[in-house]
Amino acid sequence: MRIVVERREALSAAADVVVSGLFERGDKETAFPRSLEKEDGAAKGLVRAAWDRKELKGKRKEISIFHTPDGHRRLVLVGLGPREKYGPEVVRRAAAEVVKSLKGKAARTAGFRLPSFAAEPVSGEAAVRALVDGAVLGAYEFLKYKTTTEGMVEDGTIHLGDEFAREEAGLKKAAAEEITLTDAVVWTREIANLPADTATPERLAEEARGLGKELGLKVTVFDEKKLAEMHCGGLLAVGSGSSHPPRLIVLEYPGGARRGRTVAVVGKGITFDSGGISIKPALHMQEMKFDKSGAVAVMGILRAAATLKVPPRVIGVMACAENLPGGSAYRPGDVVRTFNGKTIEVVNTDAEGRVVLSDALGYVVAQYRPDEVIDLATLTGAQVVALGDDTAGLVCPDDKLATGLLAASAATGEPVWRMPLTDYHRELVKSDIADVRNSTELQIGGMLTAAAFLENFAGPSTTWAHLDIAGPAYTTVSTRKYQPAYQNTGATAFGVRLVTRYLQTAVHA
Ligand code: BES
Ligand code: MN
Ligand code: ZN
Repeated sequence: MRIVVERREALSAAADVVVSGLFERGDKETAFPRSLEKEDGAAKGLVRAAWDRKELKGKRKEISIFHTPDGHRRLVLVGLGPREKYGPEVVRRAAAEVVKSLKGKAARTAGFRLPSFAAEPVSGEAAVRALVDGAVLGAYEFLKYKTTTEGMVEDGTIHLGDEFAREEAGLKKAAAEEITLTDAVVWTREIANLPADTATPERLAEEARGLGKELGLKVTVFDEKKLAEMHCGGLLAVGSGSSHPPRLIVLEYPGGARRGRTVAVVGKGITFDSGGISIKPALHMQEMKFDKSGAVAVMGILRAAATLKVPPRVIGVMACAENLPGGSAYRPGDVVRTFNGKTIEVVNTDAEGRVVLSDALGYVVAQYRPDEVIDLATLTGAQVVALGDDTAGLVCPDDKLATGLLAASAATGEPVWRMPLTDYHRELVKSDIADVRNSTELQIGGMLTAAAFLENFAGPSTTWAHLDIAGPAYTTVSTRKYQPAYQNTGATAFGVRLVTRYLQTAVHA
């Protein structure tokens, strides 16, 4: 969906639908809201009549449609819920609710009336950003394999009206930035949604090369031969059961600041996770094409960060392999030696994410000495059990980095909850015969034992954060309409807006 910002009043433009927000009305509230007078005029009194009938309640998710007498356009009122609970996330969801409800309804263009969405505590700028998020991400559909489609809104306009005419330049700039971000999210979803026969590790490398060419980023791809020379035993072991060999992919954005920091962003890129020899049950196994979501998000973050020219240097690392069973697959009991020399006892081949990340983390820390490392991984089912599929788990021993990420989470509406990592978890991943083991067999604290494992490879001297995105990376049942959802599964590109936002604010050394 394309979005532009216009100064003109929405009702004097020619969109198929004009969208306004409406707050929930109080029990005793009878006076017709002045904010709806223009809409009511265009609909020749129909809005006021609906208000008087108490048909318009303004509850969240409430969508009311009015037709102008000439029949040429529709006015959509979307409920915003109670004023006391208003915020940017309400706007994101409302905008998405609207575009989704217009699907297949011959609405190609939609105009949003900014003044009806900009109200305490949502500034004009915050409303513009949230409308872009909700409309663009809500309108996203994965259509690559569909031969028929029902029309979605294609063009959106945010109308400033007289109220915001003086802020035009600033609001256009904010919209442009947000559009860059949502474009990166859409681009990421398109790749993350690809099935595993198509999105092989080499295909992800091609996507990274293409991105590098487009944005002038240095891209290095280590193939299986190179990985063997580098002693990346983790990636090689996990990928050994597949005919699509593993890849370690590195993207470098030099940074916008003159003497900025270096932040490494590392992603788990399992193109399909069958579990390997420790094979998974069939139910839901198809969802494991999304096990590459962390690595694909890394590409999306690099796209957004380089386009927006964030201050720090950013190194993106994608640890890509396919986890399949077979005659050459790695097995429980194997011991693998990783890039930094540490050894892993494989207890369960389905705990493969941490095994590929061991090489990626070890490599980026040794090669680039980054000031901070942030990894994104669909790492554990335990994350989903603990937090559900809306909120990512954050493990970050460093308070300053954690605070920065939590602030970025609040700003973008990508929810994150910080979890504690203690010596208890560190103890559980120790192995009798190797340095660490990849699974504990105990079904307790799974998100944190996984993090304790990773900490061995991020290294004690590196400031490190781990985002377990197993739940939020894709969704089956979603409460947020701007994520692809309902009975359909779909990649969300979780982390792209969050981490890019963090990088935008990560200025200080
Ligand atoms: N990719 C899975 C984790 C996952 C589960 C992602 C559900 C998305 C939704 C990961 O590789 C895995 O299989 N983890 C195991 C680890 C266990 C064997 C220690 C798990 O969580 O069960
Ligand atoms: Mn697994
Ligand atoms: Zn996995």
